[in-house]
Amino acid sequence: MGDSLTPGLHAGEFTGESGKHHWVVRPACPDDVLPLSIILPALLPGNWSPEALRSSPYQSRVILLDDQLAGFAEFYQVVDECHLLAIAVNTTCQSRGLGRALLVSVMAEGARTGCTRCLLEVSAANTAAITLYEKLGFIRDGSRPGYYAGNMPGEPAQDALLYSCLLSPLPG
Ligand SMILES: CC(C)(COP(=O)(O)OP(=O)(O)OC[C@H]1O[C@@H](n2cnc3c(N)ncnc32)[C@H](O)[C@@H]1OP(=O)(O)O)[C@@H](O)C(=O)NCCC(=O)NCCS
Repeated sequence: MGDSLTPGLHAGEFTGESGKHHWVVRPACPDDVLPLSIILPALLPGNWSPEALRSSPYQSRVILLDDQLAGFAEFYQVVDECHLLAIAVNTTCQSRGLGRALLVSVMAEGARTGCTRCLLEVSAANTAAITLYEKLGFIRDGSRPGYYAGNMPGEPAQDALLYSCLLSPLPG
């Protein structure tokens, strides 16, 4: 997958079985609210109603695959830390490098605005997300035992794993 990084825009392309595809990461805008409110509840716990999305105090990024909304990330910055709150890629678009592109874009934005570390937490059961984070250099710092309640009755609670990654200052 090729990519190019310019301030505010992160874009690239890749060739899959069905030909060439292009992707763009950009800040979420009001037109994204309705599609996100449909896509996100199946991917992430939490309230992703249009009202909640519209009133969110956090920064967000969306990724478009061939001009279609395919994923979302939400984060906030405090002092020199960038905290990833959520990241998700539509099921039909997963395993094509879009989660990686979204997270790289969030990390680049953190570095661009002076953050030195990116932090996140993830359920110990979320193999896909843990693999993504570790491949991007996140190191496990600790855990919160039993932090995530089971989704179904009788399902065991899962530990939250705490991860962080140092952010390199961007050249220029
Ligand atoms: C986690 C998630 C965002 C990954 O998105 P994605 O677009 O499928 O990830 P990518 O294709 O960019 O893969 C990035 C790396 O993670 C690894 N990975 C992705 N899915 C994986 C899976 N199901 N199992 C193991 N590793 C996986 C890949 O090996 C890949 O590494 P590579 O680029 O060296 O091949 C996606 O699975 C998702 O939306 N899950 C539901 C929401 C969620 O759980 N979010 C995280 C908690 S907020």
